[in-house]
Amino acid sequence: MDFEIIDKDVMGRIGKFKTPHGKVETPTILPVVNPNIELIPPKDLKKFGAEMLITNAYILYRTRREEALEKGVHRLLDVDIPVMTDSGSYQLMMYGDVEVGNEEILSFQSEIGSDVIVPLDIPTPPDADYNTALNDLKVTIEREKTASKFKGKSLLALPIQGSTHLDLRKLSAEEALKIGGDVYAIGGIVPLMDTYRFHDVVRIILEVKSVLPSNAVVHLFGAGHPMMFSIAVALGCDLFDSAAYALYAKDDRYLTPYGTKKLEELHYLPCSCPVCSKYSAEELREMEKTEREVLLAKHNLYVSFEEIRRIKQAIREKNLFELVESRIRVHPNLLKAWRIVKNYQELLDAYDPFIKRSFFYTGIESCYRPVVRRHQERVLNVEIDKSEVVISSDEGDLADFYIKPPFGVIPAEMLESYPVGHSEVPQAELMEEEALKMAVEGLRRFLEHHSDKRFRLRVSSFWMKYLKDLPENVVIECLDRRGD
Ligand code: GUN
Ligand code: ZN
Repeated sequence: MDFEIIDKDVMGRIGKFKTPHGKVETPTILPVVNPNIELIPPKDLKKFGAEMLITNAYILYRTRREEALEKGVHRLLDVDIPVMTDSGSYQLMMYGDVEVGNEEILSFQSEIGSDVIVPLDIPTPPDADYNTALNDLKVTIEREKTASKFKGKSLLALPIQGSTHLDLRKLSAEEALKIGGDVYAIGGIVPLMDTYRFHDVVRIILEVKSVLPSNAVVHLFGAGHPMMFSIAVALGCDLFDSAAYALYAKDDRYLTPYGTKKLEELHYLPCSCPVCSKYSAEELREMEKTEREVLLAKHNLYVSFEEIRRIKQAIREKNLFELVESRIRVHPNLLKAWRIVKNYQELLDAYDPFIKRSFFYTGIESCYRPVVRRHQERVLNVEIDKSEVVISSDEGDLADFYIKPPFGVIPAEMLESYPVGHSEVPQAELMEEEALKMAVEGLRRFLEHHSDKRFRLRVSSFWMKYLKDLPENVVIECLDRRGD
């Protein structure tokens, strides 16, 4: 399948792919539609920004088989946008059993004209023992091989399973790739999302991405909370399904990109969507349950698509790192999760664009953006024609090079250009240790690289404690004490 990538940032992208019912621009959310419970009419979902939706083929198969076969899924739901169907694997995960076979449900999905079909994969729960996860995965792989026969008019999504075993996740991605899907759908993560084990989700995504080619469309099954979207997109996920908008509404929970609120604890509504502009929190609480549920579901959808547009705009402006770094601060588990990317420098480096407009430092995580390492590599190649070279921590001081956290050593002639010249970074005295250590690490490599040159390093006294054990070709001079 053709996945046209329009713009990129971090490992994320804005892309377009074609389905039998038209093109879909990613990243996007597929609202989950229960064909038997009408909360919001499916044809109205476009108004919120939906370009595609997902429904459950197993429920249709069990409850409205004849009608679905006769009308097709689009006419049954009364929609003209692309429809993905899920196989019943989720029911398998929740209830342990389903009354349909793989081929049967695949053939049904194809016959009802689904745009994207899914085999009956086995969503092994997190922390399953290795052999269980492996045996489940073997079944999933066999079912995916069978599914490839149904590829044709419908696109085929191949689920990636393997529980929390990262080698199995990679194996699953490798096998799916051999089989050849149109979409690769990371599954079995709902229990991780529900328990806020975001670091496990991040690890799984990164391992899977390390196997998949960059032009593979990636779906993250069951990650419907807007709090997670920017992170997942930044790691290269393109599609999400959201049952959350409806499930949370049912429980009087109000989604925001920075977490979930219970309606009962809201004195004010921190949103200006049509629902929140019309009603107060108190009015929502006082109305009848069914009316409130619909309104909360609408709000939940508005904020979810708003977050997607915000992410797409960030990709356009190439400041997705900045957006992610603000979102990870809404929950400590997100912060912990994002810090894992530090261990995947090479992967990130293969994706993240080289040139951006700006660099806004938001905290220690900013130190691990590829641009910092790339800058440190690049300055190693700067030619030095003097035998004694001055490096200073003070831009007001005339020098050949400057030292600035988190980048490290900067040639005077590079002070105005990207990234340093386009960066907003607090003064060194106010920065976190990590950023200073990162800069000193860059300095050390620079000094070692030019071991035949002599350096004079002029720094404010504040720097002194970080400058231990530098190579012998540098003499340190304290700027504060000059002229005493
Ligand atoms: N929906 C949420 N998780 C899953 C999964 O692992 N597989 C499938 N097919 N659907 C899902
Ligand atoms: Zn709202």
